[in-house]
Amino acid sequence: MDKTRIAIIGAGGIANSHAKSYLQMEDVEIVAAADICEGKARQFLDTHGLEAAKDYVDARELLDDAKPDAVSVCTYNSTHAECAIASLEHGCHVLLEKPMTVTLEEALAVRSAEKKSGKIVSVGFQPRYDDRMKKIKEIAQGGSLGKIYYVQTGGGRRRGIPGRTFIEKSLAGAGALADIGCYGLDLALNSIGHPKPLTVSASAYGLFGRNPKYTKPEDAARFTVDDFSCAMIRLEGGITLDFRMSWAMHMDTMGATIFLGTEAGLKVEPTPGLWGGAWDGSCGDATLFHDYMGMPTYTPIPLPDLKQDRFFLKCRDFVDAVRQNLPAPIPTSEIIYNQAIIDGIIRSSALGREVSVEFNEQ
Ligand SMILES: NC(=O)c1ccc[n+]([C@@H]2O[C@H](COP(=O)([O-])OP(=O)(O)OC[C@H]3O[C@@H](n4cnc5c(N)ncnc54)[C@H](O)[C@@H]3O)[C@@H](O)[C@H]2O)c1
Repeated sequence: MDKTRIAIIGAGGIANSHAKSYLQMEDVEIVAAADICEGKARQFLDTHGLEAAKDYVDARELLDDAKPDAVSVCTYNSTHAECAIASLEHGCHVLLEKPMTVTLEEALAVRSAEKKSGKIVSVGFQPRYDDRMKKIKEIAQGGSLGKIYYVQTGGGRRRGIPGRTFIEKSLAGAGALADIGCYGLDLALNSIGHPKPLTVSASAYGLFGRNPKYTKPEDAARFTVDDFSCAMIRLEGGITLDFRMSWAMHMDTMGATIFLGTEAGLKVEPTPGLWGGAWDGSCGDATLFHDYMGMPTYTPIPLPDLKQDRFFLKCRDFVDAVRQNLPAPIPTSEIIYNQAIIDGIIRSSALGREVSVEFNEQ
């Protein structure tokens, strides 16, 4: 059997989950890894027993020399676009970690490179493989809610500022918004079929991250991103999306994800705990609010247990698409809306006013 030759660009934390997933696949060979930190790619490969795979400091050198069929881009957010575009230009398919990029401009550049290359880019939202998230989408799109006109999503952690490469604007681009906000947005947008965002009015704060009372002093000194943001987003079709996300706050949760429709409403509880909230697309209990014989009532909706290894399924689906010439499982044509909202939230909160979201989808 011909194996799909995969390389990993960015050998930090999440690269380990990619490696562990690929190592379970008989039709995949990890041939190389690159990391701009000298020695990090070698150490990463050795940790996974990949002594025969080659290590590089420069991703372009890896692409020129190792000539992989596909790459996992696992770098911090600010280098997603450049690594994805370089890989596409070298004829590689790309599994790109979330968020797609930092700015909308970068996301559009990735899409344009993808189209030019004829290869696929799949964006790494593994909650899509959660049966609970699939059920919520099925309910939202099944017609029983009637016309959906309002969605509230987000969630957040009470204490959960990650540190490392996540808290500097130059590396991460944005904070809680880019790290976990993109999951809340994907839960909402994927459930209702990706309506186009039109305007965004947002506020962002970094009050806990800069305060050594809540963050390690060395992290507080370099903290330059948001740890809380909220936004009202107008979506095509007269839908309002109410979004909130936190890494740290004096509250247990920013509330459930809710879908209001003309025939019924759906409430999805956040998962409990200090790191709670529907922040990574995880879903707690769901309840349908509706009328029965003219009286308002509600029905608990049984959701399947969380059993799957969602991360493995995301990597497997990507490999299947590469091997069978299928479309990207989590396509940039959908995620571009998620990125447009993140970009809108960054712009609106910096300007202190509502902004329009305008882009040519071609
Ligand atoms: N899907 C998930 O569950 C999940 C979980 C955590 C992180 N992530 C995402 O994965 C990405 C990385 O997160 P992490 O926790 O691994 O961060 P990390 O800082 O541990 O690792 C990133 C690595 O990329 C390297 N790097 C940066 N630019 C590079 C370039 N141009 N070429 C080669 N190497 C480069 C850095 O040196 C670093 O080692 C982020 O975008 C994050 O949002 C996804």
